Parts: sequence; structure tokens; C-alpha cells
Amino acid sequence: MRVFSGVRPTDKLHIGNYLGAIKQWLEFQEKSESVFCIVDLHGITTPYSPKSYQKEILEKTAEYLACGLDPEKCIIFIQSRVKEHTELAWLLGTICQVGELQRMTQYKEKRQQHKSAAAGLLNYPILMAADILLYQTDIVPIGKDQVQHLELTKTLAKKFNARFGKTFKIPEPFLPKLGAKIMALNDPKKKMSKSMPETCLFLFDEPKDIKKKIMSAVTDTGKTIEYDPKRKPGISNLLTIYSLFADEPIKKIEKQFQGKGYAELKKSLVKLLEKEMEPFRRKRKELLNRNSYVEEILNQGERKARVIAQSTMNDVYKKMGLTG
Ligand code: TYM
Repeated sequence: MRVFSGVRPTDKLHIGNYLGAIKQWLEFQEKSESVFCIVDLHGITTPYSPKSYQKEILEKTAEYLACGLDPEKCIIFIQSRVKEHTELAWLLGTICQVGELQRMTQYKEKRQQHKSAAAGLLNYPILMAADILLYQTDIVPIGKDQVQHLELTKTLAKKFNARFGKTFKIPEPFLPKLGAKIMALNDPKKKMSKSMPETCLFLFDEPKDIKKKIMSAVTDTGKTIEYDPKRKPGISNLLTIYSLFADEPIKKIEKQFQGKGYAELKKSLVKLLEKEMEPFRRKRKELLNRNSYVEEILNQGERKARVIAQSTMNDVYKKMGLTG
């Protein structure tokens, strides 16, 4: 069974990225063939800085390693260095309807947010489909916001197989039972999102920031600490974060805080996060001084990824009549 997932190198990693996706990657690398991609070509569809981009990409790789990705157990590589991604994206674009792309929620949101109708933003999900299909992927661990893109990926794979003969595996999304949509701390009806940094608890935040952000997180009316996302979105979000970092069921945490107030829950969560997030910060610091080690991991990953990608592309070219 092969697992593939990706994350954009732009902006800082927040706990939504970690709990929704990366934590699952760590579990998969222990039991399945796992391929993880830093999608730098997706990152340039919204404003970015070309001068510092290479540095950011290296830093981001160091951050995934700090999270626990192990190059002995998975392939980690940079999307733009394996040219097959853009080749397949072009080919898939020939069978994808414009209407299918215009319907994508993320496209509509980003278009409005960045006041841009660049074709790259519209075509974004085709490149994502190419990423996944190139590796004959079975499982794609993602957060809830990427499910629509995965549905389109499946549609494209099925369409391609029907038209040109069986070429691609049909991938399935994998969403964690809890944490597939971590909400903004200051507005728990919205998703925690890098595009709104003020809503985020970043994975490498210092203890003083953790304290400030958690203590000022929006809570709900009433006093009881119970998990009920509709009625109590703020407290439910904090309980979700608590449960996932403490590795304990929500029910147990509810019991622990029975009869206690919101402030107590928050204080205890701050303590937990300070402890659990410390190793991430420490490892990140270590790795940021080891650029050549990180580069070597990326070179290795690129070589391994290319072998799989080229094998799929040979088949695709044949099936599409582009080679004899
Ligand atoms: P990106 O970089 O926005 O996010 C990376 C992963 O984090 C998840 N995520 C969340 N999970 C829970 N709660 C949140 N608040 C939250 N915010 C983000 C995302 O669902 C994602 O899994 N298009 C993708 C990158 C991509 C990709 C791929 C993913 C490109 N090609 C192929 C999988 C397979 C993206 O922008 O993710």
C-alpha cells in the first residue's frame, strides 16, 4: 500500500497542519510505503518571495524532519525537482472540465482573498491530482479542506482510465477521526488557516506565545466543559487539541474538568502544549544548522521519487499515443 501527501512550503506550519495531516504521516511511515512532497509549485500560486523561496523550502524540510518524518522510513522530496509532476498536470488538463475547477471552494476563496484569477490558481487541483496519481497512490492523508480536491483527483483518474485504459490507481482520502478541521482560536467557526496568521497556533511557537494565544482563545457562553461543536465550538476546539496532544479520549478530559471553569482548562492546555511542543522547537533549531544534511535527504528523496514517477509517465505516454 502506498501513501502520498503534500504540503505547501509557504508560511508557517500551524497545529492544524500537524494534527490534520502530518501526525497521520508519522503513523503511515511506520507501516506503509510513504511519499511526502513539499509542493513548491503549488506555493507560487499565491504571493511569495522568489528571493527567499529556496531558503524557505529548506527550512520547511527541516521542520517536517523536526516533526518526526524519518528519511529512512519515507521519501521526502521537492515537487519542482521531479519534472513529471508538471508534465502529468498538462496531460490531465486535457481531460478536465473548466467547470469542475471553477466549482472548487479553495479556488473561490483564494481568488477573492488575493484578487487574482490567474490560471495557476484555477489549475491548482490538476497539479495536485498529478502529484497523487504519479505515485499510484492508495491513501492520501489530508485535512477536511482538501477532500474536494481529492474527489476531483478520483474523477480525473477514472475518466483517464475509462478513456485510455487502466493506468492509475484510484486513491482514497484518509481523514483523522478527530482533528481533520482544527478551528481558528479567535473565531472557532472558521478553519485555522495560514492565510489568517492571527487565527493560528504555530507548531514552533514559543511558550509565551502559546500562553497568550490559548488564554485569549474565544470560548462559548455557559460554563460547562463539554464537547459539542455546534453549541460550543470554542471549547470543543480546545478539547480536540487537548485530546490529540495528550493522546487521551475527549470523554476522559471532560470528566477531568467536570465542575471546573474554562480558565482551568486553558491553563492546563497551555502546560500540556508547552511540554509537547518543546521537542519540535528543539529539533527544528538543531536541523536549521544542518543544511547539507537536509539537502542530502532531499536529493535522495528526489532520486527515489523520480523512479516511480517515470514509470507511471512511460505508461501514460504510451496509453495517450504520445510514444509508440
Ligand atoms: P496545505 O499546505 O494547505 O495544508 C497541508 C495539510 O494540512 C491540512 N490542514 C488542516 N487540517 C486540519 N485543520 C486545519 N485547520 C488545517 N489546515 C490545513 C490540509 O488539509 C493538508 O492536508 N493542496 C494541498 C497540498 C497538496 C497536496 C497534494 C496534499 C498539493 N498536492 C497531494 C495531498 C496530496 C494544500 O494546500 O495543503
